[in-house]
Amino acid sequence: MGRLNRRSPDALIFLIFLVFLASLTSAWKKDEFRSCRQTPFCKRARGRAPNSLPSFSVADVSLSDGAVSARLVPAPTLRQVTDDDPSAADGDDASSRSLLLRLSVYRGGILRLEIDEDPSSAPTTKRRFRLPDVLLPNLDDLRLWLSRLSPDGASATSFYLADGFEGVLRHDPFQIVVRRAGSGGEPVLSLNSHGLFDFEQLRAKKDDENWEENFRSHTDSRPHGPQSISFDVSFHGADFVYGIPEHASTSLSLRPTRGPGVDESEPYRLFNLDVFEYLHDSPFGIYGSIPFMLSHGTRSTSGFFWLNAAEMQIDVLAPGWDDPAAPNAGRVDTFWMSEAGVVDAFFFVGPGPKDVLRQYASVTGTQAMPQEFAVAYHQCRWNYRDEEDVAAVDAGFDEHDIPYDVLWLDIDHADGKRYFTWDRVLFPHPEEMQNKLAAKGRHMVTIVDPHIKRDDSFYLHKEATEKGYYVKDASGKDFDGWCWPGSSSYPDMLNPEIREWWAEKFSLKEYVGSTPSLYIWNDMNEPSVFNGPEVTMPRDAIHMGGVEHRELHNAYGYYFHMATSNGLLKRGNGKDRPFVLSRAIFAGSQRYGAIWTGDNSADWDHLRVSVPMILNLGLAGMSFSGADVGGFFGNPENDLLVRWYQLGAYYPFFRAHAHHDTKRREPWLFGEQNTALMREAIHTRYSLLPYYYTLFREAAVTGIPVMRPLWLEFPSDKETYDNGEAFLVGSSLLVHGIYEKDQKSASVYLPSGASWFNLRNGVKFDGGVSHKLAVSEDSIPSFQRAGTIIPRKDRFRRSSTQMVNDPYTLVIALNGSLAAEGELYIDDGKSYDFEQGAYIHRRFIFADRKLTSIDIRPSNVGDKKFSTDCTVERIILLGLPSGAKKAVVEPGNHETNIELGPLTLRRASPPVALTIRKPNVRVADDWSLRIL
Ligand code: NOJ
Repeated sequence: MGRLNRRSPDALIFLIFLVFLASLTSAWKKDEFRSCRQTPFCKRARGRAPNSLPSFSVADVSLSDGAVSARLVPAPTLRQVTDDDPSAADGDDASSRSLLLRLSVYRGGILRLEIDEDPSSAPTTKRRFRLPDVLLPNLDDLRLWLSRLSPDGASATSFYLADGFEGVLRHDPFQIVVRRAGSGGEPVLSLNSHGLFDFEQLRAKKDDENWEENFRSHTDSRPHGPQSISFDVSFHGADFVYGIPEHASTSLSLRPTRGPGVDESEPYRLFNLDVFEYLHDSPFGIYGSIPFMLSHGTRSTSGFFWLNAAEMQIDVLAPGWDDPAAPNAGRVDTFWMSEAGVVDAFFFVGPGPKDVLRQYASVTGTQAMPQEFAVAYHQCRWNYRDEEDVAAVDAGFDEHDIPYDVLWLDIDHADGKRYFTWDRVLFPHPEEMQNKLAAKGRHMVTIVDPHIKRDDSFYLHKEATEKGYYVKDASGKDFDGWCWPGSSSYPDMLNPEIREWWAEKFSLKEYVGSTPSLYIWNDMNEPSVFNGPEVTMPRDAIHMGGVEHRELHNAYGYYFHMATSNGLLKRGNGKDRPFVLSRAIFAGSQRYGAIWTGDNSADWDHLRVSVPMILNLGLAGMSFSGADVGGFFGNPENDLLVRWYQLGAYYPFFRAHAHHDTKRREPWLFGEQNTALMREAIHTRYSLLPYYYTLFREAAVTGIPVMRPLWLEFPSDKETYDNGEAFLVGSSLLVHGIYEKDQKSASVYLPSGASWFNLRNGVKFDGGVSHKLAVSEDSIPSFQRAGTIIPRKDRFRRSSTQMVNDPYTLVIALNGSLAAEGELYIDDGKSYDFEQGAYIHRRFIFADRKLTSIDIRPSNVGDKKFSTDCTVERIILLGLPSGAKKAVVEPGNHETNIELGPLTLRRASPPVALTIRKPNVRVADDWSLRIL
């Protein structure tokens, strides 16, 4: 009774809210979100033909501070007034003021271009926003000090960029070119080679001007008027472009949005939004925005990143868009538009695909090394109702012999959606609940969203209000928007002081009911505002220092993720690696944790689209991502659910999740046969954890993603360039999804230059061929590349933490020369001791019928040691001609038998592979093993 009374106002608000949501649901998809035509800056920019604008020319080129500086002088032409946006007219001298340009070069093949207004001639006090905190703090250490500029004819200035590459600043019209050094001077990247550069400068408002913009019932006061920037970027030698997540596109490459033969669509939109039931094939912006694009072709791979957090729209232009009579071949042109900010852009020269990824990572950082448990399987649902439910689900996994590592609690665990609190009726003993899970080596995750319930009795709201920590609305009051708890306000995460305050909230003392085994989920951080324009915060809301929300929008969620992740770091005194899952992302989010692709649907199309989505996220630095297994909305048919587990088991982030309106989905609820199939999929992931963890280490060091498009490893195989149905895990494992109901066969392309072993039965397949394969319900096609060694752990426990001391299996797939190589990285799975050298890193090399394990941990990485007594209990050899009977292990000179054994983990799996049993060498030691 008491409980009912206490909850009834909330319940009422929630009911009203549900009705409100239901009324919007159908409208949202149609017109809740703005199209380019409804977005004046986008419409304006997109309406221009190439070379139709008054051009800018370059003046006063000089070297200052080791960088190129110059002025961009606009041609004296009046801009057109358009009917749609009279405010775009230049009634004052905005179009005659010059801009400041700076070009700097960073080690490793990176050119940075900055363009901003000249503050000395600014007509207003407003300064354009430059987004801090995204570029790595030590980026400046990589800067090369330019000491010489060379005239490039009379009309350009060139300078050293990297060995084999130079940068060129063309003077009139202004143009940036990155090209190969030498006689040919073949271009790699260019900006403004189609004369579409435009920069709307800030100006004083005239008395008769109205800068407001309206969309549906919302008015944006736009106090600073038009300030958009646009330009064209060309990727030379490219066949395709990729990246700029987050979009739900079923193709791996970015399809053209304009030009001959293209049904003109929307540009790719980068604007973080809570898109309810997003479409599975659309250039619309969803939860995240990473303005990094990379191109690939037979002749070149290069990249371009625009550090700008305002709304961005990007067109990919089909060949002939500029001149239908002479369509360009071997070049991809693109057109970039942003509502505000400055030009702060980076060109990456490659030349190989992995070089581009490393270059981007040296600017925005690499994937944070996760705890090992976070790489295992996560079980989530909106909502696990109460402590009994949690206990029952936990026990269900044990009863059905299915491992899992993390149980998640969604918004209903908190008291009235006041995050950091517990509904004490449903969750009276939160510590005990977490400790029970922890006793089995399992963890819990709770949700903490950025909207804070405006409730004067809620300590967090009181504190934030008193301290003035909320984002303000255009009138200067605390912004008040509608979200799960009803009326809510949002902490201003741009402000470092507020981020520190937020981080403290995760201490065990402040977050009452939390324990060290609890980690965090940040949702709704686009930010989602149910009654806001496009379900987000109004663009004229104000952050620290008068920064408008429009200037920062795409990075709000990034800052929120950062502050939460720092909170967990502090909680553990800097010793416990945080785990924070975020929905909204920006460039650099990889430094703060994992992300997922949001509210997908339980249908085959969403299963299919998950692969290109995760691949493009990985290319843009976000290695630790996944899609909700099973689909968030709706009830998957049994076969879809099974296929989703079989595919999801290979996602870097592997979590099942579902909406509260769906039927319960725990993997044992669909009949024994399906349970067995899902169990097997989860077991497959657990057995591969050593391999995944090694790949996460690689991602953390180099920026190369865990889940990779085929072309990243086979850059000259054209057949792979647009393959979004298959992917590689690392460089050794190829997986092909099954995306159709009742699919009986699949056409699987295996890249050329390697042979491939089917991981079910050890059968060898040629590369460079599409194989038509029969498909059974047991598994999806997966192959190990010949020439590789994959480490596994094949004993199943309740959770990954209980597998720590288990022995390893090495699966060796030999190539035509009977050789193979692979790596294994091990550390304590939790702390940062690896930064002082406390890890084991081995390379296994098989050549001349001998397997050798060598230490590849550099000696200068620190004195801390990590030790383990784990051994290798089994070595499986694929591709070794039969006849081998014995192996001799050194040191010790002991012999061990070679027999036929199973390759897979399935019970009663047939003996198909030569297996060395119990070599019992320690994985941390040097040893070798000779095949006799
Ligand atoms: C939206 C998220 O995308 C979803 O995963 C979550 O369950 C709901 N919010 C409720 O928190």
